[in-house]
Amino acid sequence: MLLIKNGRVIDPASGTDARMDVLLDGDRIAAVGPNLTAASAEIVDAGAWVVAPGFIDLHCHLREPGDETSETIASGTRAAARGGFTAVCPMPNTRPVNDSAAVTRFILDRAAAAGAVRIWPIGAVSAGSRGEQLAEIAGMKEAGIVAVSDDGHPVASAKLLRQAMEYCAPLGLPVIDHCEEPSLFAGAVMREGPSSARLGLSGMPAATESIAVARDIQVAGLTQARLHVAHLSAANSLEMVREAKRRGLGVTCEVTPHHFTLTDEDVHYDTRFKVNPPIGSREDREALVAGLADGTVDAIATDHAPHEAPRKEVEFDRASFGMTGFETALALALSELYHSGRVGLARVVELFTTGPACVLGKTRRLARGEPADLTLFSLDHAWTFHAADSASLSRNSPFDGRAFRGAPMMTIVVGRIVFRR
Ligand code: DOR
Ligand code: ZN
Repeated sequence: MLLIKNGRVIDPASGTDARMDVLLDGDRIAAVGPNLTAASAEIVDAGAWVVAPGFIDLHCHLREPGDETSETIASGTRAAARGGFTAVCPMPNTRPVNDSAAVTRFILDRAAAAGAVRIWPIGAVSAGSRGEQLAEIAGMKEAGIVAVSDDGHPVASAKLLRQAMEYCAPLGLPVIDHCEEPSLFAGAVMREGPSSARLGLSGMPAATESIAVARDIQVAGLTQARLHVAHLSAANSLEMVREAKRRGLGVTCEVTPHHFTLTDEDVHYDTRFKVNPPIGSREDREALVAGLADGTVDAIATDHAPHEAPRKEVEFDRASFGMTGFETALALALSELYHSGRVGLARVVELFTTGPACVLGKTRRLARGEPADLTLFSLDHAWTFHAADSASLSRNSPFDGRAFRGAPMMTIVVGRIVFRR
């Protein structure tokens, strides 16, 4: 048994924000309340910390199978635990692609053997993510996937998206789309604008994303099924999601810490800032923060995308897209959203817990009988992120060397402490 004493318990599901104790017994929460006692329990003094339901990351890349020099399920989930995440959803763009029950089972077997946190895999929409015919979705659902996506690429056509949404609705699986119009994306390496012009780098306009978001929302209207927009980065896209929600469509979206923190002015020629979708303008960033505050955005997702050094230590044009994100996500949310006074603390917690859970049709609560998955964090702990000290096998973070206020302090998964700062 584990007794967490005197933490500031924030449970978005019940609206709780109060100093309380939480008692864990095995894999479940046994009690939440003031002045709990348990003779045989190990005591954790959480007096200086927030106690929240376990964080969920809807979007990451663990690279296993196929690219184990960049990341493995073991290293990636260790990094996730250090970031306060208790469950992470790896995208299917592995080698081979997770487009069959066999690959899903392989991932879950590796997770059971070596995973520090829970893994909720995402299966491919189409076979090989090639955009031709649907993948073995029902078989993958039976094996344990929680959603489908062709991430790395958009769902290739409106017809395929329609098929996937109609097929997935009765299975209760959301379709997650990496929204991108390929003809505008082709050849570009960052967001088009004054910065790309100054750097002489080829840019893609914000419409590269928002054209695809518009298509997808139309298909969501047609099917009345669940659509989730991955790593939304542009103000226009956000406005369309806001309007779709107003119309009552089942459309949700996620935003990454790098998109709510950085702007295209930060990019220079540093390949650690090369990511897809690319970092947007100042106006985009402000719109995303407003959407995070007002509920238009459902979740913060990391898009943790590790790449071994040879794929990043090359000319900007040739470098891979993507950056690591697990270990800096909460600290960025606390500094950019909470300490800046723009988003309340309960809302920040919601964006890491009940928000992503709801996208997957799950619940997340700090209550008796619920899974013993908890994230304990400090609002004020001062620290500096050093990519070289990361648990990830890759070092491609634009936040290397950044000083933070606030950090995950303890991560508890299935009643076990998997990370302690
Ligand atoms: O920057 C990105 N990296 N965007 C994606 O969509 C894919 C990801 C990756 O797998 O590296
Ligand atoms: Zn993507």
